[in-house]
This record gives sequence, structure tokens and C-alpha cells, in this order.
Amino acid sequence: MRFDIITVLPGLLESPFAHSILQRAQKKGIAEIVVHNLRDYATNKQKSVDDYPYGGGSGMVMSIEPFSKCIEALKAEREYDEIIFMTPDGPTLNQTMANSLSCLGNIMILCGHYKGIDQRIRDIYVTKEISIGDYVLSGGELPAAVLVDAIVRLIPGVLNDETSALSDSFQGELLDAPIYTRPADWNGHKVPDILLSGHEAKINEWRHEQALLRTQKRRPDLLAD
Ligand code: ADE
Repeated sequence: MRFDIITVLPGLLESPFAHSILQRAQKKGIAEIVVHNLRDYATNKQKSVDDYPYGGGSGMVMSIEPFSKCIEALKAEREYDEIIFMTPDGPTLNQTMANSLSCLGNIMILCGHYKGIDQRIRDIYVTKEISIGDYVLSGGELPAAVLVDAIVRLIPGVLNDETSALSDSFQGELLDAPIYTRPADWNGHKVPDILLSGHEAKINEWRHEQALLRTQKRRPDLLAD
């Protein structure tokens, strides 16, 4: 699966993709993540990518020309299943969306900055808009990193233990049960006996019960239907 990310701050995206699971997925050739600097597609001498808003108002607006040039150049190389714009006014990312996006081949992601991007970029090129939550960040880079992480870990072969993505909170509509590791007794704080029993069926039953209790308590909305 390939991701092409367009940004004015490519440096912001270096670290998130250079560690752990995302790094391993790229080394294995399962995921290819390419970051493009929008400024390379600026058309004027100053290499500017933004301008004042028509009609007045505060803040700058990202111009259509550099985005258009960059998107067209990428589209000439390959077909994209989705061109996604990260924006707080899009539908909120959830596990169901991540699951279906993880089945695609090529995704382009646009990161906005300043006050926003010229509406025509959204109208002409964008096929999907995604928010990562009801709060406003300084740009679309961190949301793009969140989106790519959520998708890549679901691609078969990325996680060592393939069942581990399946047992994640949300994957089966329940939150995860509590988990523990050694020591079994830490200053009197004990691990539940059942987990030390070696009785697999009983442990699974306990985990399911705990997952249900935790979901009822913390996220009853997930059990609503
Ligand atoms: N850009 C700024 N804030 C954002 C958010 N919450 N989600 C997606 N993109 C954003």
C-alpha cells in the first residue's frame, strides 16, 4: 500500500514514520510512505504557497496552484483510490474507517495549514475528508501521521502476531480487558489469580467479561446497538 503525503512541513513527518511498526512495514515493503514538499510546486519567485483570503478576514489561505501542480504530477504516475484532506470539519476517524482504508492500494493525503485551503482544491480533487477529533491542530501533518499509523498496522503482515490487531480495543466493538506482566505481586498489588491459573478457557472467559464491564463503564455508547 502506498501513501503520498503533501505538506509544507515535511520535517514534521520524518519521525512518526521512522520508528517501530511504521518503520518495519516500510522495510518489509508492505507500506510505502512518500512525503512531498508543497513548496517545490510553488510557481512564483518567493515560493509562496498561500495568499490573503478573498472577502477579507484574518489568516492566510493555501493557494490552489501549487496543490494542483503537485496533485496532477502525482496522478500522472499512478491512480489513487482516495485523495484525503485532513480537516477538523470532516467526519471523525474511527476503527471502521481505518479498516476499510487499509484495503486500498494508493492513498494521497493533503495537509492544510494557516486558515485553510482554497475551497476549489476540496471541490476538484478531494474524495474524502477526515478529522481526527473535535479540536483544532496547527496543521494536517499530525492528523495525517495518526491516519497512516491507524491504517498501516491493519495491513496483513505488518504486525508480528496477526491476532493482536484483531484483539485491539474497538476492533471487536469492545474495549480491551486489563493486562498485566511480571511481577505477580508488586508491593501488595496483585495480578488477578485467574491469569496465573494456566486455564486458557477460563482466562478467555474472564477477559471477555472484563472487556464487557470496561466497555459498559467507560464507553456505553459502543454497546448502544
Ligand atoms: N487539521 C487541524 N485540526 C485537525 C483535526 N482535528 N483533524 C484533522 N485535520 C486537522
